[in-house]
Amino acid sequence: MQLRPEQPTDAPAIASLVAQAFAGTPHSAGTEPAIVRELRAAGALTLSLVAVDGAEGLVGHVAFSPVTIAGRAGRWYGLGPIAVRPSRQRAGIGARLMDEGLARLRALGAEGCVVLGEPAYYGRWGFAVHEGLAYPGVPPEYFMGLAFAGPVPRGEVAYHAAFSATG
Ligand SMILES: CC(C)(COP(=O)(O)OP(=O)(O)OC[C@H]1O[C@@H](n2cnc3c(N)ncnc32)[C@H](O)[C@@H]1OP(=O)(O)O)[C@@H](O)C(=O)NCCC(=O)NCCS
Repeated sequence: MQLRPEQPTDAPAIASLVAQAFAGTPHSAGTEPAIVRELRAAGALTLSLVAVDGAEGLVGHVAFSPVTIAGRAGRWYGLGPIAVRPSRQRAGIGARLMDEGLARLRALGAEGCVVLGEPAYYGRWGFAVHEGLAYPGVPPEYFMGLAFAGPVPRGEVAYHAAFSATG
């Protein structure tokens, strides 16, 4: 298993993998492949990491993109979407993408990262709910932050406009 940043030729396989992984998941509107595509088109894929298995090809993917907090752009990023091929889930690939993705994000000079998702999953990397770090429209326990440097900012978080992509 190799983890590496995406290459231009990976784009179709990433779209297909992300679509497969999110198909039928309860909180998905099916827009995740479009989000990744639009982030890439906007030059806002700060980090797009793929997991490649020699025999099977692409088996996992994670994206990071800039967020604003209280309307200000800084060095905070949003994690997601993250996707593992359904037949290969629960075998540690997601965890490897998380470890490597966060390490690379930190090395790029990020001050922190936010994620919207399952507290039990993301908590193991130190993501936690922080009062004042808010994302409107979702139950607060599902929106978490992780500071690499400095304090956790206060304010409403906004993802890149590509997260409104619909298809
Ligand atoms: C979420 C996802 C990326 C995790 O990747 P993965 O390779 O399956 O995860 P890992 O094998 O690294 O999981 C590590 C742990 O997380 C937990 N976990 C993983 N998937 C889980 C799930 N669907 N439900 C609950 N717990 C889960 C398990 O506790 C697992 O530990 P275990 O090995 O002791 O069972 C993957 O399941 C996926 O693509 N899901 C569909 C898309 C999605 O929902 N993405 C997240 C929202 S952005």
